[in-house]
Amino acid sequence: HGTSTINKLGHLEIGGCDTVELAARYGTPLYIMDEALIRQRCREYVDAFRGTGLKFQVAYASKAFCVKAMCRIAEEEGMSLDVVSDGELYTALQAGFPAARIHFHGNNKTPQEIQMAIDAGIGCFVVDNFVELHMLNAIAGEKRQKVNVLLRITPGVEAHTHEYISTGQTDSKFGFDLGNGSAYAAVKEASELPHLELLGVHSHIGSQIFETTGFKMAVDKVADFAVQVRDELNVLFPVINVGGGFGIRYVEGDTPLPVASYVEAIADSIQTKFSAEGYPLPEIWSEPGRSIVGDSGTTLYTVGTHKDIPGVRKYVSVDGGMTDNPRPALYEAVYEAMLANRGNDANEEVVSVAGKCCESGDMLIWDINLPKVISGDLLAVACTGAYNYAMASNYNRIRRPAVVFVKDGQADVVVKRETFDDLVGNDVVPERMMQVSK
Ligand code: LLP
Repeated sequence: HGTSTINKLGHLEIGGCDTVELAARYGTPLYIMDEALIRQRCREYVDAFRGTGLKFQVAYASKAFCVKAMCRIAEEEGMSLDVVSDGELYTALQAGFPAARIHFHGNNKTPQEIQMAIDAGIGCFVVDNFVELHMLNAIAGEKRQKVNVLLRITPGVEAHTHEYISTGQTDSKFGFDLGNGSAYAAVKEASELPHLELLGVHSHIGSQIFETTGFKMAVDKVADFAVQVRDELNVLFPVINVGGGFGIRYVEGDTPLPVASYVEAIADSIQTKFSAEGYPLPEIWSEPGRSIVGDSGTTLYTVGTHKDIPGVRKYVSVDGGMTDNPRPALYEAVYEAMLANRGNDANEEVVSVAGKCCESGDMLIWDINLPKVISGDLLAVACTGAYNYAMASNYNRIRRPAVVFVKDGQADVVVKRETFDDLVGNDVVPERMMQVSK
């Protein structure tokens, strides 16, 4: 997919760059991102929303992959940006991302984060709970400012892939519950607090969703709620934020819809429900993360050792693992892979791909069909653009890999590989331990 092909040498090529050459030049493990595909995904969203005729903002959920170069792309493609910490905010500001298009999320924003975000002049806070609501109002007041807020509500719809459930359940750490009256109370308070400008409500129903049903159910509930607070509290919502969660294809069998299908279904529901109530059509905001960067990423590993247990399994070990991709260990996530240096070779054996960390759970792929794998082969794991680099760690003091963007035959390092000095850079040995034994 994207710009990936097998070139004349039988090597996997992405963005016009031979991955075997990339491995030689930058080392492995290496995150390779197909820049043209990232931009294509951004445009699919922007074009689809433009097509609805509604006012909109598409905020890239930067938690999926937050580095300065990615913020630049989001900016250039006309996206807004969703951040959830001072670190993501800092990254965006350092990249020159326009603060007015930054939305700040999170269930436990600290006073320092709120101050930093107000000082930067961000566009909107997505307020998660009553403590934050009052803290934000107070801090904005001290700064003699009025800040835009959306209220995150939990609509009682949860969607995961094919399953969606209408729970009315209250047990979530996020947001104001719609069912138990706290969302209503939050709207009332927010509309009365002097330093807050209430723009509307936000809901996020899950991640890696393959259907539109859950989104439509959430929009319906939000619309009913909007009408209720209009009628009873005389409050109008100029903005409805439908969150993220649009699915991607990791492996065969994953059946995401085209971006436009999600967008049209959501816009349709909004238009239908709000028009029926004579409600001024709100802007739609959304927050895709995974579906912007997920399928653009490929991780390249070098195969090292292997262990054959006759009649049981063959383990093939690579030079990375749960440190660069914790998703299989955390979520039992599944991935597809191929040998990047032998793209035309027929599959010959079923192996399981292990990482190099010191624990049995560090497996990247169970039971995958590959050509006969030997030491020195390059394994390319697909669809690692989202929640991989973003969730990478230094467990076992493994250095985080470099990230390169490839496009039109050009490769640019956007994150350098960590050095040993980076690893020990924050370590401090107290003076009293400096005596070296004889
Ligand atoms: N908006 C909100 C409020 C969110 O909580 C999330 C994701 C998004 C947007 C973006 O959702 P996306 O379009 O990426 O599905 N680490 C997990 C995924 C956690 C998602 C958390 N929230 C994983 O690797 O699968």
